[in-house]
Amino acid sequence: MPVITCIDDLKRLHKRRTPKMFYDYAESGSYTEQTFRENTTDFEKIRLRQKVAVDMEGRSTATTMMGEDVAMPVALAPVGLTGMQRADGEIKAARAAAKAGVPFTLSTMSICSIEDVAAHSPAPFWFQLYVMKDQDFVDATLERAKKAGCTTLVLTLDLQILGQRHKDLKNGLSAPPKLTLPVLLDLATKWQWGLEMLQTKRRFFGNIVGHAKGVTDASSLGSWTAEQFDLKLDWSKIARIRDQWGGKMILKGILDEEDALIAKDFGADAIVVSNHGGRQLDGALSAIRMLPRIRRAVGDDMEIYMDSGIRSGQDVLKALALGADSTFIGRAFIHGLGAMGEKGVSAALEVIRKELDVTMALCGEKNVHALGRHNLLLPNGFLDEYS
Ligand code: GLV
Repeated sequence: MPVITCIDDLKRLHKRRTPKMFYDYAESGSYTEQTFRENTTDFEKIRLRQKVAVDMEGRSTATTMMGEDVAMPVALAPVGLTGMQRADGEIKAARAAAKAGVPFTLSTMSICSIEDVAAHSPAPFWFQLYVMKDQDFVDATLERAKKAGCTTLVLTLDLQILGQRHKDLKNGLSAPPKLTLPVLLDLATKWQWGLEMLQTKRRFFGNIVGHAKGVTDASSLGSWTAEQFDLKLDWSKIARIRDQWGGKMILKGILDEEDALIAKDFGADAIVVSNHGGRQLDGALSAIRMLPRIRRAVGDDMEIYMDSGIRSGQDVLKALALGADSTFIGRAFIHGLGAMGEKGVSAALEVIRKELDVTMALCGEKNVHALGRHNLLLPNGFLDEYS
């Protein structure tokens, strides 16, 4: 087994072992990919303050998210097509998350269905909803998530229309893949992926196929989004979904102070400051740059999570120091899954946990609640370079 020391190790293996169309799907942003790139390069600009001669015994990364105890301030983000990165990918990721003591969020656009994951995950999980035009489908999906025991609904607000990812169009992304000559040539070098895929029946969008009516091409994320996602989504529709759900709800995809304040007035249990991993509005600022502004605007009395750009435990620490209560990781765990299945997701989580713990110690902190702006050194003007 290869020695895994960082998320980049997993990323390299992910690329080698997974069909190009799915690796590219994960590892891309929309249009010029400026926002996708800056999500990580902005994290690199943030530096850490070293503190010495501070008692570092008895450290803890534990905290809570939505009132649930978590081993560290990291949840697995909803990622579409996870079960195409590796056979039964959502089940594997949910199991690894449960073992690590962090939440797993199942995407509407998953391959394994809500019921599949509920049957195989040792812990309850969260469900992410995309709002479709078909209200019956939305209602039925919410009922399915409730029945499966999902404890929190994550409502995504920033993808009612799909930002174009050039590679997906060029690769002919679909689930399952259409067996064209370039795909077959690619698969010839990814035989383990293919063998595992042949052994599972979970190769379609499990929450869609057999559940939604009038779908012309249920294998294409692009055409499904264009046909089905509700362009009329607004705060009144979000309120309807909240009433229908009746439980804890996180609003994901907020990147602006005004929207964050509306979410607060609305009574959201938490928001996720996110630009969807740079996959939607290219040209938007990185999530880590927007986070402190949003925290300042809403104050301390709302839980704020952030995603988009986190590839290490140091990034988690930086996000917490700039005002996040917790974080979500997408690509970081998908690299693990594509590299080594469930073990790879566990490896990704362990890499991040250790990096967070050691960095906390070297910054002179014993627990994640103590982290703050005092742990960081920022380039002059970093926080108000754009206005
Ligand atoms: C869907 O969530 C995507 O970003 O592709």
